[in-house]
Amino acid sequence: MIKNDIRVAFIGAGRMGVTHIKNLAGLAGVHVRVVADALLANAERGQAIARAERATTDIEAAITASDIDAVVISTPTNTHASLIEKAARAQKAVWCEKPVAMTLAETQHVANVVRAMGVSTQLGFMRRYDPGYAAAKRKIESGELGRIEAFRALGRDTRLPPIEYLKTSGGIFLDMAVHDLDLARFLVGEVDEVAAWGAVLIDRRVSEADDVDTGVAMLRFANGALGTIETARRSEWGYDIRTEVAGAKGKLVMEGYQKTPLIHSHSGGFHGDHFELFPDRFEAAYRLELVAFFDALRAGTQPMPDIFDALETQRLALAVTKSWREDRVVKVREVT
Ligand SMILES: NC(=O)c1ccc[n+]([C@@H]2O[C@H](COP(=O)([O-])OP(=O)(O)OC[C@H]3O[C@@H](n4cnc5c(N)ncnc54)[C@H](O)[C@@H]3O)[C@@H](O)[C@H]2O)c1
Repeated sequence: MIKNDIRVAFIGAGRMGVTHIKNLAGLAGVHVRVVADALLANAERGQAIARAERATTDIEAAITASDIDAVVISTPTNTHASLIEKAARAQKAVWCEKPVAMTLAETQHVANVVRAMGVSTQLGFMRRYDPGYAAAKRKIESGELGRIEAFRALGRDTRLPPIEYLKTSGGIFLDMAVHDLDLARFLVGEVDEVAAWGAVLIDRRVSEADDVDTGVAMLRFANGALGTIETARRSEWGYDIRTEVAGAKGKLVMEGYQKTPLIHSHSGGFHGDHFELFPDRFEAAYRLELVAFFDALRAGTQPMPDIFDALETQRLALAVTKSWREDRVVKVREVT
């Protein structure tokens, strides 16, 4: 348990990194001492926002410094596993952007190191901390919905990312639907088997990345509930994220209908705006996930979702990918 200010090394001050540093700068009892980035200019930009003592390109030194209690990582995905491992071996608590790694074997390896070292971890599945999703979780756990019967989630990103990005993304189910799959596990429970379809409907070049731009998946949960997930790489009408959980006694709908609480009514009808993408839709969640991490460190409890939880969400996303590729129903436990 940490009693005084928690001293942080921040690694990776890029696009998401700047958001996280701004959030950390506003947290009482959290002190970013060093910002490290492969690019010194980015480290210095982060240092200025965080009002940190140091900016460096020496990532290892930043992680292992004796004046650091926790490491916050927001570097590209292919660096997460080795950085989490370094932090764990240095006995630092770790918060890291999702995912841990592209392969289950790599995630499993790092999870083993974390277990052996006994350090606390949290992965950046921020939707769990969105006020709507968090309230839904509390209602489901209190039994207000009765037995859960159905889950449905829909996620459409505003614009197709560059094809070059898609080539290293791990595919639409691992890259995008993973957030919905994590919510399925969070709100309903473990999934036993999946069946998925994919199609290239938005841009033919997506095939060059050996991927699809539109996908659906059906889920059979271990507790008997059924679910569906719909995912797409383009949405002309703004960032489109909806989730529904239905039970014997009621249903919950999680949806951010519009960004500004303003409806303009006029002779042609009425008009409201919409969220642009994840940074504005989940602005609060990005702050609250970090609040939760540091609160857990102070309380001496395990932050969530930890690396073991993230491993199971990755297994599920890989099972969905396998089902799409092999065009058959896949048991989640097949993915090892
Ligand atoms: N949770 C979410 O909703 C969400 C949204 C977007 C991105 N992400 C994740 O956030 C992570 C970062 O994405 P981004 O868009 O900010 O990337 P980015 O490329 O904008 O930033 C990465 C930063 O890390 C630095 N860097 C690169 N290699 C490094 C290394 N080995 N050591 C230290 N610094 C290094 C880069 O110089 C850059 O400043 C990715 O893993 C991505 O999957 C999560």
